[in-house]
Amino acid sequence: MSKPLRSSRRAFLRKAGFAVAGLRLKAEMAASARPTALDPSTLTPFVDPLPIPAMARAEGVRPNPEDPGRSIPLYRIAMRETHVRVHRDLPPTRMWGFDGRFPGPTMETQSGQAVIVEWENQLPVRHFLPIDHTLHGAEAGLPEGRSVVHLHGGRTPADSDGYPENWTVPGKSQTCFYPSGQHAALLFYHDHAMGINRLNIYAGLQGFFIVRDPREDALQLPAGNYEIPLMITDRLLTRDGQLFYPVSDRPDRPWVPEVFGNAILVNGKLLPYHEVEPRKYRLRLMNGSNGRFYRFGLSNRAAFQVIANDQGLLEAPVTAKRLPMAPAERADMVVDFAPLEGTTVRLVSDSFDILEFRVAKQSAPDTGAAPAVLHTPAIQLGEADAVRTRRLTLDEHVDDVQRSMGMLLNNTPWHAPVTEKPVLRTTEIWELVNLTDDSHPIHLHLVRFRILDRRPFDVFDYQNMGRLRFTGPAAAPEPLESGWKDTVRADPGMVTRIIIPFEGYAGRYVWHCHILEHEDNEMMRPYEVLPPGANGG
Ligand code: C2O
Ligand code: CU
Ligand code: CU
Repeated sequence: MSKPLRSSRRAFLRKAGFAVAGLRLKAEMAASARPTALDPSTLTPFVDPLPIPAMARAEGVRPNPEDPGRSIPLYRIAMRETHVRVHRDLPPTRMWGFDGRFPGPTMETQSGQAVIVEWENQLPVRHFLPIDHTLHGAEAGLPEGRSVVHLHGGRTPADSDGYPENWTVPGKSQTCFYPSGQHAALLFYHDHAMGINRLNIYAGLQGFFIVRDPREDALQLPAGNYEIPLMITDRLLTRDGQLFYPVSDRPDRPWVPEVFGNAILVNGKLLPYHEVEPRKYRLRLMNGSNGRFYRFGLSNRAAFQVIANDQGLLEAPVTAKRLPMAPAERADMVVDFAPLEGTTVRLVSDSFDILEFRVAKQSAPDTGAAPAVLHTPAIQLGEADAVRTRRLTLDEHVDDVQRSMGMLLNNTPWHAPVTEKPVLRTTEIWELVNLTDDSHPIHLHLVRFRILDRRPFDVFDYQNMGRLRFTGPAAAPEPLESGWKDTVRADPGMVTRIIIPFEGYAGRYVWHCHILEHEDNEMMRPYEVLPPGANGG
């Protein structure tokens, strides 16, 4: 049976920083040892133009549920099986996509302009990726083509938020109301079906949802053709271009703790190119990978400006040469191609090439800007505003041969009663105590938050003596992480503190690790926002 991670071997490996790298290397080696594995470096790079996802179009109007006298746009988007050509020299790849596309169509609305979406499940009844029926919520006999859509980063009423157990089956649809009462930000929608979410997203079920507002519009950032959303996802492919999702060596329990692909797709293309003018562009990056962390940069090592992250604009641009991004994080970078007229430059992540920019000689006049001040914060949020601090552990369970059996939040499985019950319109601090060897991107539905700090502590002491002993000073978040977030990297051996105003709606939501393999295997918990005035729990 599984037991909490206590082994000194793993503790040593963790301290030496080997464990994570070792696991990844093993996964990558296993993948490349498959006889049918595609080695993307054998393909001619930069022969396909970068696809820009099409905009979703409203199909009509419906009364606004919060204000029935007014009507709001209605969208209908169907999920179905599709075939996507990820590279000129590969046959089309079987995928599942919203509107039969990968990424799905981009939705766009103004802050406060509500929309309704009918998400239609037209998926096949059988899955084409390996379901692990031992996972909670993925038991044999459940419909394999089930799905439920969540708008990541959306301030959405609970019954439209896509609770993981509220999936629909092929032939049915789910109607969601998105009031979008929030600041301009790059959100995304994706499947969230209990126990198979990692497979549904790997199959292609995600798309962009952009919220705009006058505050951002007034900045005159590069727009139109000069604003490019980039969904970055890694995949393992077979030589005939089909998705490969790795399995463990136990046929009864195919779940693997992490998946890393060597084919990095940008908006569904492998190694595409994009023609740009010698001027400023706003690149809106989203890490849509199941488990891969990136460190983006430009191949010429030039600096760029980061102006936004998960929940919108930073207060001021941050000049950077490297942009780390965990799964589900978003960031906007402003890149000035003017000095690169007539040449090429690549978006890279460490040793990976991702996208080639071909900079033309001519440009329309560059009116886009990255002003020195992006916004002045309306709310000053301090620790004194918090009514409660919760200490929550991130845990890993391993079996006798040190194989990962799964991760937990606060040592509590999904189906245990709700333990986190913040009250609407109060602020809390959550301390994420990471006892595992891995970095976990922790995401809360409904809310936005700020990172207070990260502080190293003695994991061994915590596990064996139950006491939190810090081993160094607290470090403020990096400037790149200084804005409003909805996903935070909780690093191993660190206590990561976030401060969260619970705004929006009362009801049942979830929080979880956004490494999808972890999320599907118990690293997710419900939480409940209680109505104002209630006694929190
Ligand atoms: Cu991207 Cu539970 O979400
Ligand atoms: Cu979410
Ligand atoms: Cu995790």
